[in-house]
Amino acid sequence: MRRTILTGDRPTGPLHLGHYAGSLATRVALQHSHDTYLLIADLQALTDHADRPEEIRHNVLEVALDYLAVGIDPKASAIVIQSGVPELAELTGYLLNLVTVARLERNPTVKEEIRQKGFGGEIPAGFLVYPVSQAADITAFRAHLVPVGADQVPMIEQTVELVRRFNRIYGSILVEPEAVVPRVARLPGTDGRAKMSKSLGNAIYLSDLPDVVTEKVMRMYTDPRHARVEDPGQVEGNVVFTYLDAFDEDRPALEALKERYRAGGLGDVALKHHLIDVLHRLLAPIRARRQDFARDPEHVMRILAEGTRRGRAVAGETLARARRAMHLDYEPVPWPPEAA
Ligand code: TRP
Repeated sequence: MRRTILTGDRPTGPLHLGHYAGSLATRVALQHSHDTYLLIADLQALTDHADRPEEIRHNVLEVALDYLAVGIDPKASAIVIQSGVPELAELTGYLLNLVTVARLERNPTVKEEIRQKGFGGEIPAGFLVYPVSQAADITAFRAHLVPVGADQVPMIEQTVELVRRFNRIYGSILVEPEAVVPRVARLPGTDGRAKMSKSLGNAIYLSDLPDVVTEKVMRMYTDPRHARVEDPGQVEGNVVFTYLDAFDEDRPALEALKERYRAGGLGDVALKHHLIDVLHRLLAPIRARRQDFARDPEHVMRILAEGTRRGRAVAGETLARARRAMHLDYEPVPWPPEAA
């Protein structure tokens, strides 16, 4: 039996190397052997950008371009706009009854985001419950696998809890998902902070021009004690090496490079030039494909419309099953009324 993949991104800005290492590369690799749905999560973006709807609308297209640019094949992967599938909001409503406020407040990723966004005591209720809406995304598509970076693992854990509770009460309807986390599970920012993100200003975007990539790498944080070329350098925790671990496909050469750095004799500038080469090789075809698709935004919107239609068909089926299980179907009168 073919298994199903669902994952997604908030359209709050263009996607960066952290998204690529965390999840995009896995999606591209698995899309032809799995039924794949990629969600552009505009409703989730509204949970912390309620006052910036135009920005989200604009970024829906940007994220779609990034997907197509990295090699997402719209015939294999349905690209779905979240707000185009109202069944997701419906399922979120049902799942909200199966989680406590205390459990929502314990989600470590949400906690971290609340700190980072400086909400203080003013946390939007929709933001606090977005892991439940994410659980609805995953389960409405009956996903087995969810390719994500390490920061999203708590969301999958919470989804599994919700699935178990739902199935215990209403019968086995929802599928228990599993996270697919890559070898380098969390790509740090160019400044060495734990996470690459737009709001921290430490991201390299998939659409960055070559000069911009070069400049960002040259400013990267390395090992502060590795002042002279001859000094032995620290590989573990060195951001440049973490990026090479994620993107340099020549593993034996990379191991040799690490040895030289540890022993002393490999300078940061030479090391950074190597990373720049690796990133240019990765990003050049991505940038070219992006430019091609960007010429015809209407074509991209048609791809999204078709993907959303495919996604809605699956979610609609799951919701019909859920309603039946929850005694919310009122046959023999056709239900819901507009379906008559
Ligand atoms: N939370 C994800 C992000 O921050 C986006 C997302 C929405 C998602 N729904 C999802 C990820 C379902 C995986 C599965 O980008």
